[in-house]
Amino acid sequence: MKSSWGQIRSEFPALEQKVNGQPLVYLDSAATALKPMPVIETLYNFYKFETANVHRGAHYLGDIATEKFEQTRSLVKDLISASSDQEIIFTSGTTDSINLIASTYGRNFLRAGDEIILTEMEHHSNIVPWQLLADEIGLKIKWVSVETSGELNLIEYEKLLNEKTKLVCVAHCSNVLGTVNPVKEIIKMAHAVNAKVLVDAAQSVTFLPINVRDLDCDFLVFSGHKLYGPYGIGVLFGKHELLEIMPPYRGGGAMIAHVTKDKTTFLGAPQRFEAGTPNISGVIGLGAAISYIKNVEHENIYNHSKELLQYSVNKFSELDFIKIVGQSSTRVNILSLDCIGMHPSDVGQILNQQGVATRTGHHCAQVLMSKLGITGTLRVSFAIYNSAEDIDILVSALIKAKEILT
Ligand code: ALA
Repeated sequence: MKSSWGQIRSEFPALEQKVNGQPLVYLDSAATALKPMPVIETLYNFYKFETANVHRGAHYLGDIATEKFEQTRSLVKDLISASSDQEIIFTSGTTDSINLIASTYGRNFLRAGDEIILTEMEHHSNIVPWQLLADEIGLKIKWVSVETSGELNLIEYEKLLNEKTKLVCVAHCSNVLGTVNPVKEIIKMAHAVNAKVLVDAAQSVTFLPINVRDLDCDFLVFSGHKLYGPYGIGVLFGKHELLEIMPPYRGGGAMIAHVTKDKTTFLGAPQRFEAGTPNISGVIGLGAAISYIKNVEHENIYNHSKELLQYSVNKFSELDFIKIVGQSSTRVNILSLDCIGMHPSDVGQILNQQGVATRTGHHCAQVLMSKLGITGTLRVSFAIYNSAEDIDILVSALIKAKEILT
């Protein structure tokens, strides 16, 4: 790591502002991360000086844009240790990546009566596309339950697996409980019955070094905006042999080999899945974000987040009106709180009045909420710009909320 945590914090200009007269304390990075200056400057420079389309222009700016665009593909490949750039598809985000898999792989390779396995801690983005597909083609969805510890019941998971299981979809890290799931084990068990596995790495990619070859996952997805990058850009990793047999997602320019009045033939992956003008600034901005976090290093990010989490757990244990939802020792950067006797959104509003940004509600995980018998939580999530002082301010703000609300 070439910078101190203090210097890293100073590279996020959003933190210089006051909210409701108080310095901003941003504890909602699981929803979206703030952006560092190198990412902001990259986007600014692209729009100011480098705007051009990719893979088309016979001119200087087009060449630069194409080079930077494809360099980002290599950065993503290295970030997740994929085998080749061809395994990296740019999408608009995690949700789009999962919809792509459902629309192409799912619709073409799953059949009525096949079973897919989801977990009770999935985000809606890893539930709804599968329910839509299940309704359309007659799939059966089975669920791995979540224990009160906040962890998946793997004994039950093993029992759900059988020769009808064709796909397992699992979050690497729960966006509500913070639990980091043992995906390598989950994948191994799925492969034993020849099922494919999709890993939702939207949360984990921010703090864990991911190696798709070591995990042996078939698909892995994440978004740029949680990784300190721009909005509207996401990644789908797919094993080369799967991408090669999957039909296109959308039709249009840039994904064809040849078009006649009667028929179109398509390019291979990744171009086959990237119809139309892509989100060029988003991709190049994502490249800047990946370079930025490579400099900080994932191991440091993991340790920093884990320290903040432990500090918070200790502080919250002194507050008799706060109960942490889930207790997995695997948590790194996310804590969900039950504020006893108070509604999470009321608490969130009072925190906001004190400049503290958190997320309240069901966090797009209503299946999990229903399992836990609650309607929502107050979620606190950490990133590289947070400090123990942020937690101290949060704790004071929570005490104030309790005074006001009870
Ligand atoms: N998926 C994001 C979250 O958990 C938006 O907040």
